[in-house]
This record gives sequence, structure tokens and C-alpha cells, in this order.
Amino acid sequence: MQRTLIIDALNAEKAQNAITICGWVRTRRDAKGFSFVEINDGSCLANMQCIVDEGTEAHAALGEANTGAALAVVGELVPSPGKGQTWEVRAKSVTVFGLADPEAFPLQKKRHSDEFLRGIAHLRARTNKYGAAFRIRSEAGRAVHDFFHGRRFAWVHTPVLTGSDCEGAGEMFRVTTLAPGEKNTDGDFFNRPCNLTVSGQLEAEALALGLGRVYTFGPTFRAENSNTPRHAAEFWMIEPEMAFADLSDLMELGESLTRHVIEHVLAHCEADVKLFDNFVDKGLLERLQGMLRQPFARVPYAEAIRILEDSGKEFAFPVTFGVDLQTEHERYLAEEHFQRPVIVYDYPKEIKAFYMRANDDNETVAAMDMLVPRIGELIGGSQREERLDRLEARIRELGQNPEDYWWYLDLRRFGSVPHAGFGLGFERLLMLLTGITNIRDVIPFPRTPGNLEF
Ligand code: 4AD
Ligand code: MG
Repeated sequence: MQRTLIIDALNAEKAQNAITICGWVRTRRDAKGFSFVEINDGSCLANMQCIVDEGTEAHAALGEANTGAALAVVGELVPSPGKGQTWEVRAKSVTVFGLADPEAFPLQKKRHSDEFLRGIAHLRARTNKYGAAFRIRSEAGRAVHDFFHGRRFAWVHTPVLTGSDCEGAGEMFRVTTLAPGEKNTDGDFFNRPCNLTVSGQLEAEALALGLGRVYTFGPTFRAENSNTPRHAAEFWMIEPEMAFADLSDLMELGESLTRHVIEHVLAHCEADVKLFDNFVDKGLLERLQGMLRQPFARVPYAEAIRILEDSGKEFAFPVTFGVDLQTEHERYLAEEHFQRPVIVYDYPKEIKAFYMRANDDNETVAAMDMLVPRIGELIGGSQREERLDRLEARIRELGQNPEDYWWYLDLRRFGSVPHAGFGLGFERLLMLLTGITNIRDVIPFPRTPGNLEF
């Protein structure tokens, strides 16, 4: 079907005799002698205003088409006398593809609550807010790929089905071909337990120790039963892994990536970001621009604990050296103390995963988390333990069998090098970019406890 996208039509340099616009009716207003029909096709936030004169074939074809109907309008692109738009279409013909019964169509002109719209996730993309959110999601993804390709990282694909638990937190979804209650007589498909991956890190390490610099960008799964606005059971993670790199290289990478995506989205999604600034989170634009104006803060974990202890704040979870930071602590550091993103590094080894490189103090590991205002943890990563003896000892210390990690340990046996990587939660980045406060609203079909309708 030959058609012009509304985004291109609105940027046209001159009037056109015949243009075809396809989309969904946002509003229709019948005046004396003609109908105004506002159409949106998802290519941008703006609608195309179409004027259909009464008594024409086009008007007859338009019929009762109203909010929600899908149609094509062929007509003349002419300068619009109305405010807020450059061009409008004077219809010569109209084709209605699908009507939407106004009694039944759930999206009305008024503003709907997020809660209500979550219940009709299949129709959310037809609203201004979610159209904007999903366009920003697409552009942010492009920015991620551009960033890494610009730095000569290879995009690698790690398995979704896995036998290991990278984070050792036991929060995996089990995958099985057995029906509920069915006995496992011949062994299940893989002859060993199979999970959905919680992280592609271990495989990414193997690939980095051959390709040099790699990143993953794909779905990961966590069966943590945390019903919070920041946790999803299925989320997309970006996991770069670099050979011949240490913790400070990693901090630089995390900060540069975050800045690059913010810059790209501000440059390419201006109208969509403005919508969020106007209607969802006043001050969003200023906050994002502010983040670009100065370097992110960096602070060792021990110092962060002192700051929290001296803050005079009553936290629900009290802080002392050795505790894992909670969202309230993370947000205090980023929002109130530093008032910008902050990278906390050198965490106590007890609260971090087995693969993180031990520091010389034997108490902390070369880990880093990037905390950002409004969200808390955006990035978690570390330099990896590349010394075979240290890594084996740590696995034993945690009551595990090094043989279960044979291929991972091989990477330390054969040509081991200092290397480092992190995971960035893509949905949390989108929350930062849009001001949306619930992770369910930055992913088209969210997976959270109890939600599998769509
Ligand atoms: O800190 P995490 O658990 O780190 C890892 O999985 C490492 N293996 C990554 C690596 O070093 N390659 O998770 C990384 C990030 C978090 O900082 C957070 O942004 C996001 O993933 N994340 C979640 N996002 C949404 N919902 C959840 N349930 C999330 N859990 C983690
Ligand atoms: Mg983490």
C-alpha cells in the first residue's frame, strides 16, 4: 500500500496534490459543511488533521467512522490555517478498513489511568503516552547498538535456556516439557534441570575472551517474587564484557553508555520526551539535561555508608557497613546527596556474587553499581576474578563444587586476562528517560507476579 507516514507528511517542504495517509481516528468533529478527522499512525506523536467536505463521496465513505476506526485518506496536502500544525489534508477519498463501535471501544477521548490501561495492554499503543513510551524504547535500543558498534563491541547472543544460575540467587524459572504431575521416567528433555537465564554474563565472558569486547542485549528472567514498581519477571538486559579491562574502564563505559542514550533520545524523540515532561513528570527534561552537564559521582561503598549514617534520615532498613543497599538508600544517595547519578564501588564480598574480583583488603570486591535519581540501581557489574586459585577457593567457600563450573574455570586456565562487565536493566533506563514510575508501563506486555493475560 503506497502511503506517506504522518511524520514525513508533517515535515513536507511543499504542498502536494495527492497524498495517502493511513491510521486510526483519534477524534472526529462534525461541523457545518464538513468533518474534522484527526488521524494518528504511530509514526509520531502528532496527528494529521483531515477535512472531509459534506456531500462528497469521501464523506459518504467516512460514514459513521469515529474514534478508533482505521482508515486511509487520499487528498491534497495543504498549509493548515489551524494552530499547532503545518499541514492538513483535504480529503478526496476515504477508505474505512475497520470500524470501532463507540459503545464498546475502551479508549475514549478523556485521560485514562495507568491502571486501567494496563488492563487493555493490547490497545495501549494507540494512546499518546504509550505510543511515546514505545517509540522512546525503540530509539533507546538503537542508541545502545550505535554506542557499542562505535566502540567496536560485537553483539553476541547468549542462550535463553540454561543449566546454570549466574547470580546464585536461586530466582530462576524452571523450564520443563513434563506435564504437571507427570513422572520423569526417561529424564526430561536435557537430562538435567533447565532454567530461563537470569543473565548472559558467564557466556558473555567466554565470548569476550576471544572476541575482546562483546555485549548482549536481550530478555532475561527472574522469578523473584518482588511486587515492586522496579522489578519485572521478564526484562531486557544489556551486558557488555571487556577483556583487558579493569573496574575503572568499566565505570567509564557505564557512564558513557548512559550519557549516550540520554543524548540520543533527547535529540531524536523531542516531542515524545516533551509529552512526558508536560504530563507525567514535570522537570524530566531539566533533570536529563542536568545529568549531561557534569560527570557522574563516584564513591566507595564504605564512604557511601558513612554518608548514609551521617544523613540523619530515618531509613526503614538501618545501614551499617556490610548491608546491601536498599532502594531507599540508593535513592537518597543519587537524589539528595549527590543529586546526580553516582557509581558506588568496592562492595563487601559477602553481599556480592562469587565471580567478582577480590580486592587486596580481602574484605571487598571490585564491584560497581550505578545509582540514578528516581530509580536506584540502574547498572550492576564488576571486574571478574581472573585468578584460577582465588576463584576456585571462593566457589568452595560458598559451599559449591568447582566441577560444576568447569568450563567457566577453563577460561582462567587457558589465557586468562583481567576482564570486566556489567548489566544494565533496559526498562529501568526507560523509566529514567520517560519519568514513568512503574516498570509495567515501559514494557508493552509486562510480566509481573500474577500477570500473564496478554
Ligand atoms: O545487578 P544484576 O543482578 O547483575 C547481573 O545480573 C550481572 N550478572 C550483570 C553483569 O555483570 N553482566 O542485574 C543487572 C541490572 C540491575 O542493575 C537492574 O538494572 C536490572 O539488571 N535488573 C532488573 N530490572 C528489572 N526487573 C528486575 N527484576 C531486575 N533485576 C535486575
Ligand atoms: Mg545488582
